[in-house]
Amino acid sequence: DNAATSYPKPEEVYDAVDDYLRSVGVNPGRGGYLRSLQAEQMIFKTRKALGNLFNIKDLSRIAFTFNVTQSLNLAVKGLLQPGDHVIISQLEHNAVWRPLRGLERQGIIELTVIPCSEGKNFDQNRLKEEVRPETKLVVINHASNVTGYIMPVGEIGQFCRERGLVFMVDAAQTAGVYPIDVEEQNISLLAFTGHKGLLGPTGTGGLYIGEEVELQPLIEGGTGSQSQLDHQPELLPDRFQAGTLNAAGLVGLGAGVDFILKKGIDEIRSREEELTAYLYQRLIDVPEIKVYGPEDVKKRVAVISFNIADYMPDEIAAYLDDKYDIMVRAGLHCSPLAHSSLGTLKRGAVRVSPGYFNTEEEIDILLEALREVG
Ligand code: ALA
Repeated sequence: DNAATSYPKPEEVYDAVDDYLRSVGVNPGRGGYLRSLQAEQMIFKTRKALGNLFNIKDLSRIAFTFNVTQSLNLAVKGLLQPGDHVIISQLEHNAVWRPLRGLERQGIIELTVIPCSEGKNFDQNRLKEEVRPETKLVVINHASNVTGYIMPVGEIGQFCRERGLVFMVDAAQTAGVYPIDVEEQNISLLAFTGHKGLLGPTGTGGLYIGEEVELQPLIEGGTGSQSQLDHQPELLPDRFQAGTLNAAGLVGLGAGVDFILKKGIDEIRSREEELTAYLYQRLIDVPEIKVYGPEDVKKRVAVISFNIADYMPDEIAAYLDDKYDIMVRAGLHCSPLAHSSLGTLKRGAVRVSPGYFNTEEEIDILLEALREVG
């Protein structure tokens, strides 16, 4: 269940968190003493590593958050004004769907969902047709957390740039496991979490805010800077980082990103592709198993959802956990939209999501277990 959170983390991540809590242990940016400055520098290293990974030049434009849900909320609530129109895909997570539906219900925005048949097939022509003068924002899930389908973000970004639309990418399932370049892909807002592909601890995440985007803060309060003001400072990233950061978590995240940079994103992607191909082929070999999403593993991240005959997904997940200690996620995976595109809104599916540290032998054990069910 690496799509929910990656496990294990590289040893360096455990060491970095432990070392921070034991040997540094102060609040970064809230004191002038040496330790506090050291802590700030450690967090700056994480910022720098993320900048390298995503090709972000102005590092102050990365706001740290506690998860990708918070990043997405900051973006949509900080950006949208009454009368705005927003376009999203049918593979969005509830972290995008619920806040936007909330704004739509309040009559603040209008929302259009671009269909993605069978959990893939983003309809780019439809995107072009749906743009109106009021369209401000396009939000795309870089890869579906249900089918693993990778969206053509480069092409969508190019289109958004030409039409003057703000393009936000939800990189929950791709940051750290698939190449992302905010410049090349014309990404104006990049929302990411630290605890999945980036291999950091939970409670870490961030939002890259492109220069062309003006956002209002979601959370206001102390920033350790310009404290005389009765409003959030303009200073970045402080404007969007009120309250004490998850310092130990962010230092751990830095170690996770360093691990990725050292291995190289292409090496990580290629290993995940191998595991995905191995798993996919074995799943489709079992006649009782119906696998969802793209057949070409180059078009998916390491996320595969399936059903077996008439079994309920949660029965299969419970069986795998009880008997084999294999962790998969069953149900709707917080994405009723994606399940509606698969026709599995009532039943849900079983989702298996290997990570960089999984092995072919572990996949063999999973398949043995599934054959017992089937
Ligand atoms: N969004 C995460 C998942 O897909 C938690 O499981």
